[in-house]
Amino acid sequence: MIVDDEAVQRSDLAEMVSSLGFEVATAADGREALAVLESFSPSAILTDLVMPCKDGVELLKELAARGDRTPTIVLTGFGSIERAISIVHDLKAFWFLEKPVQSDVLSALLERAIQQNNLVAETELLNRQLSYQGVLGELVGESPAMQEIFSLIRQVAPTSASVFITGESGTGKELVARAIHRLSPRSAGGFVAVNCAALPESLIESELFGHEKGAFTGALERRAGCFERAQNGTLLLDEIGEMAVGTQAKLLRVIEESKVWRLGGSRDIPIAVRVLAATNHSPEKAIRDKLLREDLYYRLNVFHLSLPALRDRKQDIVPIGTALIRDLNKKHGCRVTHLSQDVLRQFEAHSWPGNVRELRNVIERAVILAAEGEIQIRHLPSSLGPQPVVAPISQPDGLLQVQVGVPMREVEEAYIHLALKHTNNNRRRAAEILGISLHTLYNKLRLYREEKGAEAPEDDQELVAGD
Ligand SMILES: Nc1ncnc2c1ncn2[C@@H]1O[C@H](COP(=O)(O)OP(=O)(O)OP(=O)(O)O)[C@@H](O)[C@H]1O
Ligand SMILES: [Mg+2]
Repeated sequence: MIVDDEAVQRSDLAEMVSSLGFEVATAADGREALAVLESFSPSAILTDLVMPCKDGVELLKELAARGDRTPTIVLTGFGSIERAISIVHDLKAFWFLEKPVQSDVLSALLERAIQQNNLVAETELLNRQLSYQGVLGELVGESPAMQEIFSLIRQVAPTSASVFITGESGTGKELVARAIHRLSPRSAGGFVAVNCAALPESLIESELFGHEKGAFTGALERRAGCFERAQNGTLLLDEIGEMAVGTQAKLLRVIEESKVWRLGGSRDIPIAVRVLAATNHSPEKAIRDKLLREDLYYRLNVFHLSLPALRDRKQDIVPIGTALIRDLNKKHGCRVTHLSQDVLRQFEAHSWPGNVRELRNVIERAVILAAEGEIQIRHLPSSLGPQPVVAPISQPDGLLQVQVGVPMREVEEAYIHLALKHTNNNRRRAAEILGISLHTLYNKLRLYREEKGAEAPEDDQELVAGD
């Protein structure tokens, strides 16, 4: 939008701006400009300073008061640059431009102003989408199911109760454990997560309880275990069902007595640690299968949090996706803004077996590929969404479509049949197309028949005779 009280200057500028490819609106002073803004949202405003009825300064103040962040470029006459700079500084105008305005300078300035404006708008949008309601620590979720989880976390965090967290892989069990720790009175202490599935039985006890020097072959130094490292903090026992049952018995004793014995140690160490446990298997089934001790389970399952699969809370895809885009933009120095409608539809249709971890991986790849702007279907891995069912070999419209993995022999037969179909069974023409002799074609057909145990068609001999 151009705001200038001098009609000739106004129309000259309007012509220049429209020749740069922009749609233009004009106003003769600040008051008229505000009226125009009711129905037109410009990407930038060019305004003169001295005008009757609301001058440039008053217009800028009014825009600021309304929270309108449209970038404004102030037009100044010769010799008033200092004033223009102070206006840019004090009233947060985007920049100033000396009259007479040069087209190339104006073009560059407009481009920069609009670019910056878009960035500000995007950031605001991202921040709005991450309204407080939908966020707890690093956890994002607006679905009723996640809101319920957030509320349970807020209730249980301040207590010292053990929490047993279940949910499919990638649903956010570790993030939930961290949120509980962060909102608890122990947040100043450490948060230690130990993956019981990643350690062999021989190491897990030393990892959990620590060991004294010489406790076993290879114990060259004394080492504190996870319980000691989480002193006054929180210990997450991840994949608890994978822990050897014998170790589970020792673990239960440590928790019940709030004391730990290092392997090879002679004294017990008092511990003040809140214990959380997580698993992506059904604890009831693990108990039935004798993989999880029932007494340990009841001790840890004072409070149960069961995280829903992403496919059962699809309304979280957009808010989590938006938060992930923001994080991954930062990580990779990209400027991706949002997911296209097509991508959202694809995301809706997908069943997300890997849950949020899978969503994160898909978005990370797409952010890197897109680098800026919108994430589109072409940025997604082909594994996403329903795959078209492709026969190993098919013949759509005179083409031969072959999936990798089909043996050469079958491709050859399919191609020969395609050539025959194409020539209405004229074998001489088919052989020409295939670049083989009629004799070879005949031999191959006979071979295929013999393999299938089929009879020769009646016209076979005639053709050979005619060759
Ligand atoms: N609600 C959420 N909001 C934002 N990010 C999430 C959310 N849930 C999970 N994530 C992200 O998804 C990934 C997997 O989360 P996490 O490691 O907590 O899952 P998990 O349930 O412990 O998985 P596993 O059973 O495989 O150990 C992490 O990158 C995490 O940051
Ligand atoms: Mg985990």
